[in-house]
Amino acid sequence: MGASLQGQVAVVTGASGGLGAHFAKLLASEGAAVALTARRMDKIEALAGELAGQGHRAMALRLDVADAKSIAPAFDEIETALGPISILINNAGVGGDGMALEMTIEQFDETFDVNVRGVYFAAQAAAQRMLASGVAERGEGRIVNIASVAAQTNLPGLSAYCASKAAVAMMTRVMAREWARRGISVNALGPGYILSGINDEWFATEGGAAQLKRFPRRRLMQESDLDAAILMLAGPAASAITGQLFIIDDGQTLPGGG
Ligand SMILES: NC(=O)c1ccc[n+]([C@@H]2O[C@H](COP(=O)([O-])OP(=O)(O)OC[C@H]3O[C@@H](n4cnc5c(N)ncnc54)[C@H](OP(=O)(O)O)[C@@H]3O)[C@@H](O)[C@H]2O)c1
Repeated sequence: MGASLQGQVAVVTGASGGLGAHFAKLLASEGAAVALTARRMDKIEALAGELAGQGHRAMALRLDVADAKSIAPAFDEIETALGPISILINNAGVGGDGMALEMTIEQFDETFDVNVRGVYFAAQAAAQRMLASGVAERGEGRIVNIASVAAQTNLPGLSAYCASKAAVAMMTRVMAREWARRGISVNALGPGYILSGINDEWFATEGGAAQLKRFPRRRLMQESDLDAAILMLAGPAASAITGQLFIIDDGQTLPGGG
């Protein structure tokens, strides 16, 4: 593809499948060196090997973002191997479905540990390193938090997930403001439904099929539908874009029948 991210070093959390694996390939194809992180080492090692075989710089590193204390040391390891981190795709996430009346504290915490604490402390660790390395001084720091349409849409059965994604949208705004004069752009991307490990069981049910029929275009999105937004937010184009939530949902949340 292109070379719009040549010389950049990107970290992708949750790169072992679904959107994260796709984002890692996309960033590599634009010239970035990519650190793939997740818990399933076999998956990220295979993908890093595939990318390296195509001539890209790539590494795989185990990182469980629910263990917030392990994020900073992992990012140090990535910088030692690949150089200063300039892009973070803060993608690792879990679904956390369950009706509010039955939600257990453990289920709630599991969603927030990954989707909120994990995203928060990964953004913090990335920003600290961007400031220390000179990446931020050059205006090249980019943090893209993967939120969801759930940040703004009430989805029954997903109250903890919706709350976690709304938290991601708000932390994006405040971090963007705090780092506004320091060369780091922080934005959030809110995808609509794309078939992946997070929702494949749901869309195989009658309820899932009925939901799909209510989407104006009667379809799920493709991972590649997010490419333009990811490249914009991770690259030079985002120098004057910060603190925003971009909903890319194929019109799935547009109200109205028919
Ligand atoms: N698919 C959609 O329709 C959709 C729509 C809107 C937003 N999103 C968001 O997009 C992101 C990616 O989701 P996806 O659809 O690609 O789902 P997925 O296929 O289930 O992938 C989730 C990824 O997150 C990683 N992950 C989960 N818990 C983790 C932890 N504790 N530490 C590190 N990594 C962890 C998983 O890797 P390991 O299991 O190997 O750790 C996996 O790579 C999520 O934030 C999700 O909320 C998805």
